[in-house]
Amino acid sequence: MSAFDPAIFSRNSRFEVDHLSIASISADDLVSEFGTPLFVIDEADFRSRAAHWKSALEEAFGESAGSVYYAAKSFISKEVARWVEQIGIGLDVCTGGELAVAQAIGFPASRVELHGNNKSEDEIRQALSYGVHTVVIDSFFEIERVSRIASELGLIQRVYIRVTPGVEAHTHEFISTAHEDVKFGFSLASGAAWDAISAIRAENSLQLVGLHSHIGSQIFESEGFAAAASKLIGLLARFKDTYGQELPELDLGGGYGIAYLPGEVTLDPSRILSELAEIVKRECAAAQIAVPIISVEPGRAIVGPTTTTLYSVGTTKEVELDGGQSRRYIAVDGGMSENIRPALYGAEYLAILANRLPLGPTCATRLVGKHCETGDIIIRDIELSADIAPGDILAVPATGAYGYSMASNYNHLPRPAVVAVIDGKSRLIVRRERIEDLLALEI
Ligand SMILES: Cc1ncc(COP(=O)(O)O)c(C=O)c1O
Repeated sequence: MSAFDPAIFSRNSRFEVDHLSIASISADDLVSEFGTPLFVIDEADFRSRAAHWKSALEEAFGESAGSVYYAAKSFISKEVARWVEQIGIGLDVCTGGELAVAQAIGFPASRVELHGNNKSEDEIRQALSYGVHTVVIDSFFEIERVSRIASELGLIQRVYIRVTPGVEAHTHEFISTAHEDVKFGFSLASGAAWDAISAIRAENSLQLVGLHSHIGSQIFESEGFAAAASKLIGLLARFKDTYGQELPELDLGGGYGIAYLPGEVTLDPSRILSELAEIVKRECAAAQIAVPIISVEPGRAIVGPTTTTLYSVGTTKEVELDGGQSRRYIAVDGGMSENIRPALYGAEYLAILANRLPLGPTCATRLVGKHCETGDIIIRDIELSADIAPGDILAVPATGAYGYSMASNYNHLPRPAVVAVIDGKSRLIVRRERIEDLLALEI
């Protein structure tokens, strides 16, 4: 039976007697005012998670603490960029579009890091002109491009090299591989990362300050990060042996896991970062190099748990299965256009009835959207109350990361609104798209 679970919903969500409330506003009131589907972001929760990552990094690494760069790809809007700015952490952007959001609110360029495996010349120029702190170089072509554009602008650009360390991590497992068959970064095993170091050092307009790696997503244990850190520290040691000086910075990327289902727990930044600090310090001592300035790039772990999607039930249907069983389908007014993760990765979610108490027994349910696609499934198998009917509101928690940011207009469905809630007050931070917005693109 699916029930409210405080470990999965945002921190200021409650099930109060007979309804869900977020920051003391009932799901019913939010839906009456803003419609559905609706992303509801718990602002205080976002702020406290972001601040916790900052303090945890500082506590774990002390003088060697670099920056927490919030990964904009997980979800960014101008208002969220303002919160990130106020909390005092940095922003990781990987396109000119994400950078434009930062620029639109005057986010300090000195706290922006630019990623991307295929940055266009326009994007590089946009970023360098804005003065971004660091560009993470991803290919040999980019060494020439960033160097040339920096030189045109009369700059010396700080850069990291993105290294693929042959470590892949997802959830509780990681694997170490000799070859890195991915589009990102420079392979360590093949020697490409070392060649990139030499090539960057030959460019007068580039200042190589560190290494970067990002090993996966939904990671809960430190082993994968430890394996990657150990390989990168090996490269830092080789750099010191070869050039007689140290590369001072190391960015360990994002990928920290959160709870989506009952029984799961969102990773505690204090725990993971103190484990990482121990590993990094030990490896650096063994390699006889100074502990580098350590940065991290959590996206999902900051915004994921803060957001709940509210849907209206449109139709329900009983479907006979082989063997005399049946399954009830509940269709809501969104689907794969605002949550592609179940279709893309087989991601799993919880849903609860949000506007009233369920009555009577539950039944085997599949929660689906309204798109013309059999795979338009939000939750493949869930027990939900048999009395759920059109007009009811369902709440799906932990949709803050890679929900809205991956949203599409499939079937010409306008993208949902995003509303921020705090202390009993709600305000729209991204308005609902209109059909006119979509038609306005056409010539
Ligand atoms: C380079 C880099 N940094 C950070 C992130 C954020 O990952 P997460 O949201 O899982 O923390 C990603 C995600 O793909 C990434 O590619």
